[in-house]
Amino acid sequence: MTQELEFTRPDDWHLHLRDGAEMASVLPHTARCFARAIVMPNLKPPVVTTAQAIAYRGRIQAALPAGLDFTPLMTLYLTDGTTPEEMRRAQASDAVMAAKLYPAGATTNAENGVTRLECIYPALAAMEEAGMPLLVHGEATAADIDVFDRERAFIEASLLPLLRDFPGLRIVFEHITTAEAAELVRAGPPTLAATITPQHLLYNRNAILAGGIHPHYYCLPVLKREHHRQALVAAATSGHPRFFLGTDSAPHAVGAKESACGCAGIYSAHAAIELYAEAFDQAGALDKLEGFASFHGADWYGLPRNPDRIRLRREAWPVPDSYTFGETQVRPLRGGETLGWRLLAE
Ligand code: DOR
Ligand code: ZN
Repeated sequence: MTQELEFTRPDDWHLHLRDGAEMASVLPHTARCFARAIVMPNLKPPVVTTAQAIAYRGRIQAALPAGLDFTPLMTLYLTDGTTPEEMRRAQASDAVMAAKLYPAGATTNAENGVTRLECIYPALAAMEEAGMPLLVHGEATAADIDVFDRERAFIEASLLPLLRDFPGLRIVFEHITTAEAAELVRAGPPTLAATITPQHLLYNRNAILAGGIHPHYYCLPVLKREHHRQALVAAATSGHPRFFLGTDSAPHAVGAKESACGCAGIYSAHAAIELYAEAFDQAGALDKLEGFASFHGADWYGLPRNPDRIRLRREAWPVPDSYTFGETQVRPLRGGETLGWRLLAE
């Protein structure tokens, strides 16, 4: 049995850092492991201009503890009013890597998202021309669509039309959760890639609803049936270069999750690479972890692979019940339980 792993330092291609004191308290968890992360723009209010993205990047850099080397890669939040000029400005900056499509109302802080895809067609045309990637939260939002069918409905209603109408647009289908999404990306054009979270590799929907309601396993897109989980594990461990790591680590105050109307989001930054190692280990595919975590995303985004390396040891350690989150606490994935892989400090 492999006792120790050493591989190229990974990157997180989908991360929620929040802002202010909350951001400052979660940032070290990501920066202890990942060299770079694509930082989501769904702040309140959202990051919609290049100037706002540059200011947010500055706040992140200022909050980084001394001795940690970490590069935040910024994104813009698309709204019905996003202009092609803003996209060209973003692409010309050295700060903004991509723009994020939240269908209006799809998830946390998506109220200002896009109501109809046609509203952003001019912006998408500018992105296609400039080579700026589109990151999609792939869930249809109509009230009559079952929550568990929303990703599949998005593929039909929105993603296939986008692929047809913008054949040159580079698209990341974020945090995929279904066999259908995995198959679409596997068989799809080179412009289409996907990120996969640790929770969607490790858990199915029973984690939320069996034996009581477990709000800390609730995220969007919601966990699906076991056969979907298995399809995601197969995709992530296949070695296919267009599947890569994106934690979607999304911290919320404990009280905002343990509530009559709990927020969507799972916090995984405290043990992200360890959780992925567990999933790959269970699948007998530890040899595929480096590609998924450290090569495929960098290659797809056209960035250099990281020059340094990390080490993980097979070693049990107890995950704290909670971590400080600004003025409150966040409950991490597997809080109060044990993990079997541990990232070693340099
Ligand atoms: O569960 C989620 N939480 N899904 C998202 O798309 C957003 C995220 C958040 O920001 O909390
Ligand atoms: Zn997200």
